[in-house]
Amino acid sequence: MSATQFPPLQIGKHVAPRPIIQGGMGIRISGANLAAAVAEAGGIGTISAVGLGLNSPYFDPEERNFGRRRANFFEANRLALIDEIKKARELSPTGILAINSMVAAQDHETLVRTAAEQGINLIISGAGLPMHLPEAVADYPDVAIAPIISSVRAARVICRKWGRQYNRLPDALIVEEPRSAGGHLGAKAEQFEVPEFLLPSVIPELVAVLEREFGAKIPVVAAGGIWSREDIERVLALGASGVQMGTRFITTEECDADIRYKEFHLQATPEDVMLVPSPVGLPGRALRNPFVEKAIAGTLEPKNACLASCLHTCSYRDRGENYCILRALDRAARGDVETGLVFAGENGGSAEAIVPVAKLMAELTECP
Ligand SMILES: Cc1cc2nc3c(=O)[nH]c(=O)nc-3n(C[C@H](O)[C@H](O)[C@H](O)COP(=O)(O)O)c2cc1C
Repeated sequence: MSATQFPPLQIGKHVAPRPIIQGGMGIRISGANLAAAVAEAGGIGTISAVGLGLNSPYFDPEERNFGRRRANFFEANRLALIDEIKKARELSPTGILAINSMVAAQDHETLVRTAAEQGINLIISGAGLPMHLPEAVADYPDVAIAPIISSVRAARVICRKWGRQYNRLPDALIVEEPRSAGGHLGAKAEQFEVPEFLLPSVIPELVAVLEREFGAKIPVVAAGGIWSREDIERVLALGASGVQMGTRFITTEECDADIRYKEFHLQATPEDVMLVPSPVGLPGRALRNPFVEKAIAGTLEPKNACLASCLHTCSYRDRGENYCILRALDRAARGDVETGLVFAGENGGSAEAIVPVAKLMAELTECP
């Protein structure tokens, strides 16, 4: 293997030889298999912790009593996360493994504590500001914590709160650009081009603010629209210490999604990438399919009762609007790319083949 030209990425006590975090992708798009492959290849592999119980042997979707079904769902999520972390650790005994836990999920704190107990190296947390993350991992000094934010303003709020209340600062900050990232976005469409939310302005400003206002050299990681080695070079030149990439890892052999999901990504064109309304409020970015077209037109019929009240804010649960995002993402991950929700970043439709993670990591980091 030839040498990487990029410096390693240190987050807390953990040093990744290649400064690439594979972003958490729910539901079950980035599970143990993908995360372990990335960790083994010298990056940081992330298991998405959201909704893992849904298709696990621990959950009974036929339970009719809502309260019992809900309790069963959260317990199933916890048990399935333990399984997933154990499996990843078996596949990558010494690599750096992370979980992604969404603040918007009702069982966020339980999942964070569970992952820390299970010896995860890093907890990445977004979809809301993870104000109390330090408390959840207080007993685990080796567990690093990294919020996902989209603006310097959000980073300041977290750093001030953590500093004041917990005497701790983030071990890294992941800046996700709404204009380009896949999945749920941190801003409305009309805010996408505002400099406050663009990587070229946020990265240098955030690096400076962290040093000036907090006296800390906290690694800043850029996410959204990063596809090639040149893209990585560009954001490192802005002051980032690493990148988080999602979409590019979907078309890998090790990605945990059904093969039909990967092939759907492979067949898509850049014109298929669209913004889709979501029951959580802010839009998501996904590939065009009949489901997304109906979601945009507002013609999806509410089909099922709320499964488990899994989110703090959900317009499907509260008003029957939009769709059950848990079920929509799960359908897609299991290969139903017609009626499921297939998230993708702005670079969706650029993949040319399904490749092994090791090959992709080499292409992204090694000198030509
Ligand atoms: C299929 C898919 C699912 C995602 N799921 C999550 C998630 O559950 N939680 C989260 O914080 N980010 C999620 N993301 C965002 C990624 O972790 C990553 O930050 C983003 O995709 C980076 O942009 P890129 O796809 O252009 O590389 C998802 C992205 C995709 C494409």
